[in-house]
Amino acid sequence: MKLWGGRFKGETDRLVNDFNASVSFDKKLYAHDIRGSIIHARMLGKQGIISDDEAKLITDGLEKILSDINDGTLVIDDTYEDIHTFVEATLTERIGDTGKKLHTGRSRNDQVALDTRMYVREQIDVLSENIREFQKILLRIIKENTDTYLPGFTHLQKAQPVTVAHHFSAYFEMLIRDRSRLEDCKNRLNLCPLGSGALAGTTYPLDREFSAGELGFDGPTRNSMDSVSDRDYAIEFLNAASIIMMHLSRFSEEICIWNSNDYDFIEIDDAYSTGSSIMPQKKNPDIAELVRGKTGRVYGALMSLLTTMKALPLAYNKDMQEDKEQIFDAVDTVNMSVTLFAGMIDTLKFNKDTMEASAKLGFTNATDAADYLVKKGVAFRDAHGIIGEMVLYCIDNNKAIDDLSLEELHGFSDVIGEDFYDAVSLKTCVDARTTTGAPGKKAMENAIAFYEEYLD
Ligand code: ARG
Repeated sequence: MKLWGGRFKGETDRLVNDFNASVSFDKKLYAHDIRGSIIHARMLGKQGIISDDEAKLITDGLEKILSDINDGTLVIDDTYEDIHTFVEATLTERIGDTGKKLHTGRSRNDQVALDTRMYVREQIDVLSENIREFQKILLRIIKENTDTYLPGFTHLQKAQPVTVAHHFSAYFEMLIRDRSRLEDCKNRLNLCPLGSGALAGTTYPLDREFSAGELGFDGPTRNSMDSVSDRDYAIEFLNAASIIMMHLSRFSEEICIWNSNDYDFIEIDDAYSTGSSIMPQKKNPDIAELVRGKTGRVYGALMSLLTTMKALPLAYNKDMQEDKEQIFDAVDTVNMSVTLFAGMIDTLKFNKDTMEASAKLGFTNATDAADYLVKKGVAFRDAHGIIGEMVLYCIDNNKAIDDLSLEELHGFSDVIGEDFYDAVSLKTCVDARTTTGAPGKKAMENAIAFYEEYLD
């Protein structure tokens, strides 16, 4: 079934039909399509372009189609070219010739632009809410772990001690930016393309402001050619989705490292791990690995759509039909990833003793030892050299800085006193860092207060 054919003499090649059709995937947009059509029909009636009775017949028919698809009585079959064709054909089949008036002053070009925009707008809210749920889980963990110590790393080498609260709050921050990027995208996309026609508007006295308002947009788009050929909002969404996946992928990598035998910082819940078919001892972090792996899919969607759009002349071109599968796949992938990752994090157990021991063992207090000497009057560069030699001595003697006796310490500097041990303890190393953004308990308490307000 086609919406065109009058000017054709011959039949469409069978393979061309398959190649051209999009209904197998754009049927996902049926609710958006029908909602847009209902508002379009109401607007046509209000403007006297069709009669009130016709508008009523059409909108009632569309409501029924919507509820029949929703409850499964009406199945969208793949013999139609696209979802727009299916809805219009079904309407005319059910209500007769009046159904043929629905498409007055409209093209599938502005129709599909509207449907896709409404879908992306709705999915932005879904994704943002899923991220918010994840943030709630992170905040619980942050609050419970302001003195769970672990080494902080640079170059994947132990650097300075931090806490699980501080580490996880770094991800909380990334997710704040992720949600604000989604919000930005939504604000920019919220103009309604309906009424742009095929590319040059129409001669009917459409009330585009009415349609835009009824469909929850801030107003109509301002240029009809741009309206039917703009997919920036989808690219922006895929960009935001890619960054979200990049963040989850970095987090995944840390989970894999922390879960490795030699680190053993965490225990992933049985519900979120899998085993090996041959090695009985295995408990693998597959969810983290899959999220890391699926990041490539979402980047792929972004690159795909950018490439599709890169040389398209104005206005609509069929190339743009390629947008939908990429968008749908990215939406499903990122939502599943956020939700599953959040579940895995929610059920994670921290091996606090192992983490703390690891934080103690890697000379993560060397900076604080140098700072101790500075406070006793030694110049920082000299202090750096003295503690460097101390570290070398510890390595040779298989000791930590805090294991050295006062006598051994005096071998490096005679300004060192009993108070040295407290100054280089894990707790002091963390809690003395009280400036905004630092891991110390005081600074973290301020961050937690901010996160609580943010989530409200
Ligand atoms: N399935 C098409 C798409 O997704 C709908 C628009 C078709 N427009 C056209 N002029 N053939 O882009």
